[in-house]
Amino acid sequence: MDIKIKRGSVSDEKSDAAVFMLFEGERPKGALAGIDGILGGVISRSIASGEFTGKRDETALFHNPGKTGPARIIIAGMGKRDKFTPDSLMRAAGAAAALAGKTGLKEISAHSDPPEAMSAHRFASLIAQGMLLALYNFDRFKKTESDKKRVKSLTLLASDRAMEAALKKGAVEGRIIADSVNFAKDMINAPANEMTPSVMASRAKAAAKDVGLKLKVLEADDCKKLGMGAFLGVAMGSKQPPKFIVMEYQGGKPVDRRQGPYVIIGKGITFDSGGISIKPSEGMEKMKYDMAGAGAVIAAIRCAAALKLPVNLVAIAPCTENMPGGAALKPGDMVRAMNDKTIEIISTDAEGRLVLADALCYASRYKPRAVIDIATLTGACVIALGDFAIGLMGNDRGLIDEVVKAGDTANERAWELPMWDEYLDAMKGDVTDLKNVGGRKAATVTAGKFLQEFVDYPWVHLDIAGTAWEEKGRPYCPRGATAIGVRLIVEFLKRKSA
Ligand code: BES
Ligand code: MN
Ligand code: ZN
Repeated sequence: MDIKIKRGSVSDEKSDAAVFMLFEGERPKGALAGIDGILGGVISRSIASGEFTGKRDETALFHNPGKTGPARIIIAGMGKRDKFTPDSLMRAAGAAAALAGKTGLKEISAHSDPPEAMSAHRFASLIAQGMLLALYNFDRFKKTESDKKRVKSLTLLASDRAMEAALKKGAVEGRIIADSVNFAKDMINAPANEMTPSVMASRAKAAAKDVGLKLKVLEADDCKKLGMGAFLGVAMGSKQPPKFIVMEYQGGKPVDRRQGPYVIIGKGITFDSGGISIKPSEGMEKMKYDMAGAGAVIAAIRCAAALKLPVNLVAIAPCTENMPGGAALKPGDMVRAMNDKTIEIISTDAEGRLVLADALCYASRYKPRAVIDIATLTGACVIALGDFAIGLMGNDRGLIDEVVKAGDTANERAWELPMWDEYLDAMKGDVTDLKNVGGRKAATVTAGKFLQEFVDYPWVHLDIAGTAWEEKGRPYCPRGATAIGVRLIVEFLKRKSA
């Protein structure tokens, strides 16, 4: 979908549909009141009769019987005005775009009237994000007609020159963010026989080329020299060669360069069979998304560079399959991580913490200002927090608060879990420094405590096991990969740039 910005009035603009957002319980005002008049009052009548209430996710479509202006009007509810958040606008825009798409409309326009003192820049960015994310569709393996039903363009109408400029900039930002999220979704939704560690590396390479990033891909031999026994241990059961992907973006001012970069690390298990501790077969097909963390960090650094954020950033994605091949790790085996800590393998299915352990050690060489890791790490996180909250743990109060705030703003919300010392006891080994499973109790927290043993900098860990995949489909998040974390990380970095 192209996005165009124009000066003018939405009621004069020829399009297949003009989109308006309306708060719950409010009547048409301004431009919408004008349109309502042209339509003979059908909009206000449908509100008066209670057919359209303006609740969240509600939409309605009216035909314009006149000869000029938009052929149709779509109104989308934003919920109550006093509960308005940026997410309300994204949702309404997404719902309107989805309706336009389903109806087969090609060209839509929207009246630009930022609600609640929001800037025109932010308004355009959120509308673009909501619509582009809602229209995402992973259909490249289907012989479908859906291409014919694609919305081709959105025209945002500005009332004056200053607004036009602000809308333009906002729309560019929104497109970059949505494209990055959709880039991550394409990786995460792809089947594991396609999205191998090698293909992850080539996607990272393409992204690096697109936006001008440094890229290093460490091969198994390189990792061996670095002493990454935990990461390589997981890779041993698979025929696919592991890839340890490192991407670097230098957007910071010289003064920042002395402070060390932000580092983001994503778990990149391109398929998690469980290894020798094999998973039950029911639902195992979903374990292709066990690289959602890696997909998110590759997309996030792409986005940061495309937005030219003034920060220094490194993205690390340790990528491998977890398979039960003849050379696979076995329960009772011991591995040694890059920081020389030894780990007894209790379950080969607790592989995420092993690949992250070496990635966390590797991050240390950057003397990072802060590190955020993101991983589909524990089934227990799904039980504890369900589908709506990322499990968050960390070692730095200020950083934790910043990440939580960024998540709230992006509506990728994170909930903090305790990290008291007592929880580490479960992870202590009998004959090794650590073991990779600490039992059923607080398994999300004990996994976090395990990771902390590989960290010597301000750090936050995000467990996205419950939030990386959407089963039903939500307004601007169709079924499948959510690419959660991309917008949270970008929001976090944007705040660092301000
Ligand atoms: N990738 C899984 C966690 C997972 C579960 C992600 C469900 C998404 C949905 C992870 O590697 C895993 O298998 N964790 C085990 C750890 C256990 C053996 C300590 C788990 O949580 O059951
Ligand atoms: Mn596993
Ligand atoms: Zn896993």
